[in-house]
Amino acid sequence: MPVTISGPRRLRGEITAPGDKSVSHRAAMFNAIANGSAVITNFSPGADCASTLDVLRALGVEIDRGPGEPGVGDTLHLTGLGMHGFLEPANVLDTGNSGTTTRLMSGVLAGRDIFAILNGDDSIRSRPMGRVVQPLRKMGAEIYGRKQNTLAPLVFAGGKLEGMRYEMPVASAQLKSCLLLAGLRADGVTELVQPALSRDHTERMLSAMGALVSAEGLTVSISPSELDAVDVFVPGDISSAAFWMVAGLIHPDAEVIIRGVGINPTRAGVIDALRLMNADITLENERDAAGEPVADIVVRSSQLKGAVIAGDIVPVLIDEIPVLALAAAMAEGETRFADAEELRVKETDRIAASADWLTAAGVEVETSHDGMVVTGSGRILGGTFNAHHDHRIAMTEGIAGLISESPVTVDGSEIASISYPQFWQEIKKLGGVVE
Ligand code: S3P
Repeated sequence: MPVTISGPRRLRGEITAPGDKSVSHRAAMFNAIANGSAVITNFSPGADCASTLDVLRALGVEIDRGPGEPGVGDTLHLTGLGMHGFLEPANVLDTGNSGTTTRLMSGVLAGRDIFAILNGDDSIRSRPMGRVVQPLRKMGAEIYGRKQNTLAPLVFAGGKLEGMRYEMPVASAQLKSCLLLAGLRADGVTELVQPALSRDHTERMLSAMGALVSAEGLTVSISPSELDAVDVFVPGDISSAAFWMVAGLIHPDAEVIIRGVGINPTRAGVIDALRLMNADITLENERDAAGEPVADIVVRSSQLKGAVIAGDIVPVLIDEIPVLALAAAMAEGETRFADAEELRVKETDRIAASADWLTAAGVEVETSHDGMVVTGSGRILGGTFNAHHDHRIAMTEGIAGLISESPVTVDGSEIASISYPQFWQEIKKLGGVVE
């Protein structure tokens, strides 16, 4: 569905970020294999997290979902089945568009005495799954997939898990979490060495649930453990907040407040990157919500400058690079993104998709295998841009419409609902015109 966005002269307002997608997936999955019942508040409204709930229900987990208090996301009541309680699913488990569901559930399903198949949409069936299948097979799981066990559908057919020491080839929180979840049920210790730090929500939540998990530097270890259910208040999603942050910074007359955003340091690289680009960002009301740091974020119009975004910061802002590329287009000078080859294998190839729409918007972009150089011109032409069936590309193009010279039409806008169904409504709250 196409939507057309044009900007107000003044961009002002307050947004409450929706519940974090990564934390929501984990809160549901980990409580599903825990002992006891849990209440999860401010659950992500996105379709990805709904896919996780569908998969868990098909494995026998009872989940009751209802609306939360005004201004807060849905509340879940979930009863865990314990570490070994899943029922054999009668049908293929559908993970939709969700890489997190597919990869984390691979760790949950590996080496169980039930037969299960994970499958998703076209995007999921083209994304690399060998990175989880190969180490899980090394631990003793029987798993099969297309193309020599590298692509979904993935078939889980039992096996017996043994702990191992594993040097992870990519700084991926999905891979790390998958192997930690398998390690919970393996004999002996599972030790993972990461090439760089990635989001640590899994380590934090498993530890709060009583798992024997520890982290030192880049090494994370886990021993077989039972989990106790815990209530989780899901913080606001910084990956969703990033769109409003960039909107407020690049609009010439703006002040935007985003309430209740999770600022876990392994997620908040976007704040550091934007500050490096000369952004006026203030954190207010810093507090703690269920083991995760949270703040209100205030952004004001800023003359951004080009920067280099490369190295260890990349995994902690990986999902924000599409919207950072828009910030770069509005900045003075060049911004170079490097060491971001993982972007090539997200919901779509996000390097190619970003270059595609930015070029059509009149911006100079040069791509490389692991990034791109964006030459800021301070202007975005309008036009019709394709969402590339990727929620973050669709929303980035929508934000561009708030500052572009003529309106922006986003073709395929409905894909935003993967993480942020209310996104187009929220644009109106800030004064943007959505038609
Ligand atoms: C996620 C980890 C990241 C991120 C994805 C969510 C998670 O993927 O891109 O949107 O919840 O663990 P990788 O871990 O594969 O980089």
